[in-house]
Amino acid sequence: MTNQDFANQLIRWYQHHKRDLPWRKTKDPYKIWLSEVILQQTRVNQGMPYYLKFVEAYPTVFDLASAPEDEVMRLWQGLGYYSRARNLHACAKMVVQEFNGQFPSSYDGLLRLKGVGKYTAAAISSFAFNQANAVVDGNVFRVLSRVFGIADDIASTKGANKFESLANELIDQDSPGEYNQAIMEFGAMHCSPKTPACGLCPISSDCYAFNHNAQQKLPVKLKKTKVRTRYFNYFLLRSGDQYYMKQRGAGDVWQGLYDFALYESNRQVETEEFMDTFPKEFLSNVILEDRSKIFKHVLSHQRIFATFYQFNVKNNKAIEALDAFEKLKAYRIEAIKELPKPILINNFLDEFIF
Ligand code: ADE
Repeated sequence: MTNQDFANQLIRWYQHHKRDLPWRKTKDPYKIWLSEVILQQTRVNQGMPYYLKFVEAYPTVFDLASAPEDEVMRLWQGLGYYSRARNLHACAKMVVQEFNGQFPSSYDGLLRLKGVGKYTAAAISSFAFNQANAVVDGNVFRVLSRVFGIADDIASTKGANKFESLANELIDQDSPGEYNQAIMEFGAMHCSPKTPACGLCPISSDCYAFNHNAQQKLPVKLKKTKVRTRYFNYFLLRSGDQYYMKQRGAGDVWQGLYDFALYESNRQVETEEFMDTFPKEFLSNVILEDRSKIFKHVLSHQRIFATFYQFNVKNNKAIEALDAFEKLKAYRIEAIKELPKPILINNFLDEFIF
């Protein structure tokens, strides 16, 4: 099978089997960029409603660039990996301010944009501008490793570079955008991780994995991601009909989103033992009204166990005694509903407060 045969087979398969997806019907680099940022680490079914919401709220890059940060974060709420949303907003501003609202058309120009890496630059340059830059994502690793029998570790730099070179040799020079869509769609829908449809595959006779029964061994990924377990003790401080919240800072999960006063512990702690660690001025000016069940929240590299302590605040001295004092602000329920929040916080509020 020549490189051109490989490309032709994938494109033919794609033309018969492709899903009807809105971002495939446009050449607008803004919409293509938007869809690709949303679809990173996100399945099509989960990302679709977000794509439609964003396109409706912000039809052009100018609309997105001039939107308030909290509004963008609120629209993103539930998609996770929130740095993507902050980068999305920063990138829109950059395109407006530095490029007059026009996305660069070259791969290297695109790479200079905030949050745009090799994958996204290849996707935009090929889909919007028909340039021959190969995309390499999890689907492409899987298809190439199986068809060509490449056992290099996809999590290593050397392995990733090898796949990238091969992908750029294979790309169809006349229809690079369609080829890129085709190989990703083929990986997502046909050459799937657990149950590839080898019986219906147009290239199985040329496929190394099929011929060696190695579908489950390829691709090879060695780096195991370590999962860190954390214990969050949240203080839900109520004063009349207001609750205290704060915006999260840089350097940890959920930057820019709103949560409550947070005290992290290195294990699950009992109420009394935990309360003993707080200053008198706090304890004597609050009434502990409730302690929630333990909420478990799983992120890609962290497992969070969260407990919510609900306090009635009798006196402002209680708030002043907390080290989070300067960041905490009181909000009414209606205002809290509008703030961008981690799903963990949203779930707790939905169940117990709203
Ligand atoms: N995942 C990432 N980019 C995609 C695209 N353009 N179409 C379908 N799924 C995708």
